[in-house]
Amino acid sequence: MMETITLAPGLSICRIINGMWQVAGGHGYITPQKAVSEMELYHKSGLTSWDMADIYGPAEEFFGKFRQNLEKSGHDLSGLVGLTKFVPNSGSMSRTIVERAIRNSILQMNVTSLDLVQFHWWDYDDARYFDALYHLTELRDEGKIKHIGLTNFDTAQMQIMLDEGFTIVSNQVQYSIIDQRPQVEMEKFCKKNNIQLLAYGTLGGGLLTERFLDFEPTRIDLNTYSLQKYRNMIDAWGGWGLFQKLLQVLDKIAKKHHTSIANIATRFTLDKPQVVGVVIGARLGIAQHIEQNKQTFSLKLDPDDHSAIREVTLQANDLFHVIGDCGSEYR
Ligand SMILES: NC(=O)c1ccc[n+]([C@@H]2O[C@H](COP(=O)([O-])OP(=O)(O)OC[C@H]3O[C@@H](n4cnc5c(N)ncnc54)[C@H](OP(=O)(O)O)[C@@H]3O)[C@@H](O)[C@H]2O)c1
Repeated sequence: MMETITLAPGLSICRIINGMWQVAGGHGYITPQKAVSEMELYHKSGLTSWDMADIYGPAEEFFGKFRQNLEKSGHDLSGLVGLTKFVPNSGSMSRTIVERAIRNSILQMNVTSLDLVQFHWWDYDDARYFDALYHLTELRDEGKIKHIGLTNFDTAQMQIMLDEGFTIVSNQVQYSIIDQRPQVEMEKFCKKNNIQLLAYGTLGGGLLTERFLDFEPTRIDLNTYSLQKYRNMIDAWGGWGLFQKLLQVLDKIAKKHHTSIANIATRFTLDKPQVVGVVIGARLGIAQHIEQNKQTFSLKLDPDDHSAIREVTLQANDLFHVIGDCGSEYR
């Protein structure tokens, strides 16, 4: 059984979202044709929601081609969802600049209106992000965008945006067994303000799998940008030794439920309050885990599983204290 959920009015998503950062480079050689045709496999299996960004190389273009192929072959497009991001460099956020970026995403993705635009801003001290939000809101009101979300904004900035009168439906942040910072402040804030969370980094780029059980990778083994990124996160969290303890516990839980460590990690994050969906990276045309990941939907974690996980995570550093609230790692 698939799990779907309403992210915002009129926007229903599959709770496992296919992440497309992996096609942007640093994750092995992606063959465009192979990648686009593999997207159909995900769609046909029910994994019909995609996460991309204007800065993820060919991701939006792949989505547009894939969508066109579906349309041509007479497929039902009603369940297809494309979530993208607007990640501008610092600078003037005039109407022309914002509109041009949105128009480009619309063109690339072969849609008439963007389902969700998740806005990222690098420097909170640069107040021009309010200009960007103002223009995104205008474009939403004109029908070019259905909903405005955020990515990697912290709770304090979200409060400021709401105080300024902006309507935000979601924030996409790192959320996993390793990184549980959202539950310190953001979760409560989002619940109060009806903002949903989309989680990434849930599998630590693939580290939270059997592949790394009883095996310490060298820098050469960490052969994707995401493995490298999340290895650094593990080092800040408590180091490889503690991570092995965690993997051993997760492996036991996985065996008990006849499933995999990846599914335990995904279920754990999906069950967090305010989390509507987990974005799982897909190395299109290189590796796919469609059927395995769908098994998450029939998995239920019990209190013993949670306390076994907690026993390890309690020994870790408090990442909120070490790094700061969600998104601080980018600033
Ligand atoms: N907003 C942001 O700033 C931000 C930042 C990072 C990511 N994201 C989004 O989140 C997505 C996820 O990326 P991520 O870097 O966080 O990676 P991730 O989802 O934690 O890990 C993805 C990797 O996990 C492995 N995997 C997936 N399912 C598996 C299974 N069932 N069993 C074993 N291994 C499995 C795959 O490795 P193999 O390919 O090696 O098999 C895959 O490449 C991105 O594509 C992007 O859309 C957003």
